[in-house]
Amino acid sequence: MALTVFQLNLLPYAHGAVNYLRLPSVEAAAEYRRSRVVANPVFGKTHYTGRIAVLHIDGNHSYENVSADIAAWASLVQPSGWIVIDDYLWPYGDGPKQAANEFLFNSQPKVECAFFMGGALFIKLKQDPVHDDLRLTV
Ligand SMILES: C[S@@+](CC[C@H](N)C(=O)[O-])C[C@H]1O[C@@H](n2cnc3c(N)ncnc32)[C@H](O)[C@@H]1O
Repeated sequence: MALTVFQLNLLPYAHGAVNYLRLPSVEAAAEYRRSRVVANPVFGKTHYTGRIAVLHIDGNHSYENVSADIAAWASLVQPSGWIVIDDYLWPYGDGPKQAANEFLFNSQPKVECAFFMGGALFIKLKQDPVHDDLRLTV
């Protein structure tokens, strides 16, 4: 039922540009890294660049699971992209907060800014200086 509602909600916007992997998140990341083409019978086939603009982490909220999701997906986020850690402040535990803080601490050179809003932590990555240099010289 939930899958059908999800499909009905997204179908009007899909047009081959939106798709989903129905897999545990870490397996989905491995599949996404393996193939840039995501296909299913409802949304058809979508070709991805492999550079994620907005990554929203909102699966299992244990520290171990949020950390595993960040480890699996965050390196695919493009320079200037966003990482959103849902339920950073959460009444039932601090898994998302612990994992997000650890990521922020370890990724400081790559992070432009981070702020908390609506229960989630928003992290914006810096622009890629190499790409910026290339863009300036082209
Ligand atoms: C907090 S809910 C959020 C769902 C969705 N983002 C939303 O707002 O409707 C977390 C969902 O992730 C699923 N989930 C938990 N661990 C997961 C994992 N490792 N891989 C994929 N889904 C997972 C749960 O079954 C649950 O449906």
